[in-house]
Amino acid sequence: MSAGIKPGVNSGLSAAGASEHASPRDCQNDQTPNDPAKIDTAAFQSPVPDAGAQSFHVAIIMDGNGRWARARGLPRIAGHRQGVEAVREIVKACPDLGVTHLTLYAFSTENWRRPPLEVMALMDLFRLYLRREANALVRDGVRVVFIGDPSPLDQDLRAMMAQIEARTAGNSRLTIAIALNYGARSEMVQAARSLAEQVAQGTLAPEDITEARLGAALYTGALPDPDLIIRTSGEQRLSNFLLWQCAYSEFVFAPEAWPDFTPAHFARAIGSFSQRERRYGAVSG
Ligand code: FPP
Repeated sequence: MSAGIKPGVNSGLSAAGASEHASPRDCQNDQTPNDPAKIDTAAFQSPVPDAGAQSFHVAIIMDGNGRWARARGLPRIAGHRQGVEAVREIVKACPDLGVTHLTLYAFSTENWRRPPLEVMALMDLFRLYLRREANALVRDGVRVVFIGDPSPLDQDLRAMMAQIEARTAGNSRLTIAIALNYGARSEMVQAARSLAEQVAQGTLAPEDITEARLGAALYTGALPDPDLIIRTSGEQRLSNFLLWQCAYSEFVFAPEAWPDFTPAHFARAIGSFSQRERRYGAVSG
């Protein structure tokens, strides 16, 4: 079984700054050039989902904003601000790379432990992103959904989230799931509670609790499982992200801090994914 994507045509990513031509094999090596201009996104010939594949879901742990800022003598929030720019570029690149679903880990249930000023600044950045990008997302056929528990978020932010979900509900070119106050363990707890309530009410028999039913009770119930999970900034852990859904995901750990992660790096990660054989516990061939 292939990784589910194959070379397509016309990367359309020249805006990413590709100038030299590398072979797909070059693009697979472990060395990640620091200069994104050296990565030729066209070399991937735009990986697109296999004819048979219904979706191509990439989930990203956007890590390294704080370190990016510290390395420049800037406050942490400057890294988050630059991170928003990276989000905009990566979202734009998705259709050309065959990505149909993009999940972004924006704020975890554990991120409330950060200094209150940083939390406030992050919430303001989410507001800014939604305010500034709403029209373009609607126009570009992007559907926006949120995963996580919105209840502790400010009312005005929740209203903005509900509004963009409603405005983009009919879009299907790309689905972005923004994980906001998301934690995989609490997601599983709420799913277990909801199934337990149905059992208590007599509307669900315990033996009817299947993997499919449990999966459907998660925040991600309407999304396919992620094919590829990328974490930036060199850290190699999941940090309570999509623990159920990642059962057969492939992983790419990119060395770049999130604000430095460009569409060229994104294409490179997808290129690496496209070379892998996914066996789902079976054997080759
Ligand atoms: C992790 O880096 C990053 C976050 C917790 C916030 C991610 C948020 C953004 C990129 C803002 C924009 C998002 C959207 C969806 C509009 P870190 O601060 O933990 O970095 P560090 O490990 O270097 O300290």
